[in-house]
Amino acid sequence: MSKHSFPEGFLWGGAIAANQAEGAYLEDGKGLTLVDLLPTGQKRWDVMLGKLDSFTPLEGEFYPSHEAIDFYHRYQEDVALLAEMGFKAFRLSISWARIFPNGDDPEPNEKGLQFYDDLFDELLKYNIQPVVTMAHFDVPVHLIESYGGWRSRKLVGLFETYAKTILSRYKDKVKYWMTFNEINMLLHLPFVGAGLVFKEGENKKQIQYQAAHHQLVASSLAVKACHELIPDAKIGCMLAAGATYPYTCHPNDVFEAMTKDRESFFFIDVQSRGEYPGYAKRFFRDHNIVIDMEEGDEALLKNHTVDYIGFSYYASRVTSTDPEVLKNITSGNVFGSVENPYLEKSEWGWTIDPKGFRTTANQLYDRYQKPLFVVENGLGAVDDVTLEGEINDEYRIDYLRKHIAEMAEAIADGVDIIGYTSWGPIDVVSASTGEMKKRYGYIYVDRDNEGKGSLKRMKKKSFHWYKKVIETNGEKR
Ligand code: BG6
Repeated sequence: MSKHSFPEGFLWGGAIAANQAEGAYLEDGKGLTLVDLLPTGQKRWDVMLGKLDSFTPLEGEFYPSHEAIDFYHRYQEDVALLAEMGFKAFRLSISWARIFPNGDDPEPNEKGLQFYDDLFDELLKYNIQPVVTMAHFDVPVHLIESYGGWRSRKLVGLFETYAKTILSRYKDKVKYWMTFNEINMLLHLPFVGAGLVFKEGENKKQIQYQAAHHQLVASSLAVKACHELIPDAKIGCMLAAGATYPYTCHPNDVFEAMTKDRESFFFIDVQSRGEYPGYAKRFFRDHNIVIDMEEGDEALLKNHTVDYIGFSYYASRVTSTDPEVLKNITSGNVFGSVENPYLEKSEWGWTIDPKGFRTTANQLYDRYQKPLFVVENGLGAVDDVTLEGEINDEYRIDYLRKHIAEMAEAIADGVDIIGYTSWGPIDVVSASTGEMKKRYGYIYVDRDNEGKGSLKRMKKKSFHWYKKVIETNGEKR
């Protein structure tokens, strides 16, 4: 293998999530999920942070997930386009509420199960490996209303049933699985990550970390079930990654950067190494957090660790201990980073840092020594369609080219990376803002922020570019 080449069988592709693509939010027996309660604008942020007034969608409010890009009805056309680009893998999520509409139903919903059977068959027809996330920001609303979402231990058993149901059903079709998308997101957007709604005066940190424990146990149970039911499958975790840089070389800043990274690594330390790290135990002591564990939890976590580390990388982060510097937080970044004076930002204020991608991959591999799977990366940008119907997204190509080059460097560094599924190969609804105009795709979808448009699919310039990248296994980029 030359310095800049990718291993044979490298899984090139793209990634979407059910709630951002499928639409058909109540069709064929599907129940409401938390994303179906997320409107747009400021209200979206309030709900995502755990301030929610109603468990049913409000009249007159626009909820982008309800129709999304109508992937539910158009997946055949979409998969054909992905196949034309030569996709080797396609990451998607199963909507829990399509399988168990309320989350605690005694029997699964056959129509929901059938939909994913058909979708997997369609992918396999083109030799595209499905890479499946079990939970991507979509807890069934009934579980939030009745049990308080992941704050309740009850969800562990319900998730295990859901996981076993889909693992057994798709055991011959799906060989790559992931448990919780961006599991660390529950610390930043608690409603999105874990269906947490807070009451006045509650100790939020206590509730978040208890919910985290429940997800970690549920994740282990899913890993155990996957290994038992599909011995030739691989199951991973999924981290919203991005190295944190200290703003200066002051030892306090350096320590703070490490601490910030550990806030995220905490989850993967448990999922991959199998135990709560010392720094987390200290954090709990210092913040009066007491994790309620059941007998057997620790053994479960230890014995059922993940096979690979899935992660998303969009940007690096910067932190400081200087209150003056901390005033300078970039907008639009869920992780609240200090502005990096050396780097440019996207139109949504997300830092663009290809080198940080290499750093992050190295950091993760040094720490876990397990194969890495880059399951999200990309640039959210506004695309204009010319009068001739062309979309010249050179800026996207530029972003991806630089990131792929750094991924090649990481591989040359010795990092074991098994695949790369860029985010939103077909435009989908933005998770953080609910907008359609924040696009990541190689395929344009005619739909705007208000839900208007024909939903027609069009190839962008990047479509042809990415096809070439895949065709040459990353050599031509
Ligand atoms: C990740 C999520 O956080 O980033 C995706 O897993 C999301 O669901 C992606 O879409 C990009 O974020 P956004 O807010 O630009 O859609």
